Amino acid sequence: MSSKIECVLKQALTTFSGSYTSKAFHDNLIKLKRNANELDAYSVGLDFRLLRWDAYELNNSLDKLSGSTFIHHQAPVTYIGVFEDQHVSIGVFVLRNGAKIPLHDHPYMYGVLKVIYGKVKLQSYTPKQNDYSKLNDNNISAIKLAPIIVGETDDPCVLCPIEGNIHQVDTIDGPAAFVDILAPPYKTDIPKVGKRICRYFKEVNISKDTKLTITSHPIDYWSDTSPYTGPPFTICFESKT
Ligand SMILES: [Fe+2]
Repeated sequence: MSSKIECVLKQALTTFSGSYTSKAFHDNLIKLKRNANELDAYSVGLDFRLLRWDAYELNNSLDKLSGSTFIHHQAPVTYIGVFEDQHVSIGVFVLRNGAKIPLHDHPYMYGVLKVIYGKVKLQSYTPKQNDYSKLNDNNISAIKLAPIIVGETDDPCVLCPIEGNIHQVDTIDGPAAFVDILAPPYKTDIPKVGKRICRYFKEVNISKDTKLTITSHPIDYWSDTSPYTGPPFTICFESKT
């Protein structure tokens, strides 16, 4: 029998390896959401120590750290890569107490986010321009969606190539972790446009309009990485492309 994470991976590949506009795609996306809803911290082998320690601290004894003159700045976020190919990337973000993932976009991508530990506040925006090239303007008009608080017992959240595509994730009342399924992955190119780059934004309000302006990478946000230690999986999948 397949593990929960293997079921998610197989369904993600089924969903995102073909056309995004067919009826089958939307049916498959619903199935993926249902499968992702089964995930919890145990199904990805989450090392709960990462909720307090970053990867460096996990790999070095605290005694060694405290006796050293080396000043270690704890990474606020750890990323655990589970799987990535040209169709989909799956990973786990672990956010320590007070951490946030600043406002960022997922250009022309789908995303399924399932909280597996703690709670997060999700603030999403829908850019009013559909044309990717216009998103390079200094000020982007956007619709600010109502913030939502999402926990382990809540359904996965879905972001679309335009709708809710720009978001910020904040921890609420302690550390949190979520599984993030993204398609196509950031590492792929946008056809006829070029690199699919994750950009950071800040909200500026001009009169009554909500505008987002592109900013440099926030200095208080960075992540380290830790290896996946969950159930092993084998993928025997024939791409439809
Ligand atoms: Fe995101």
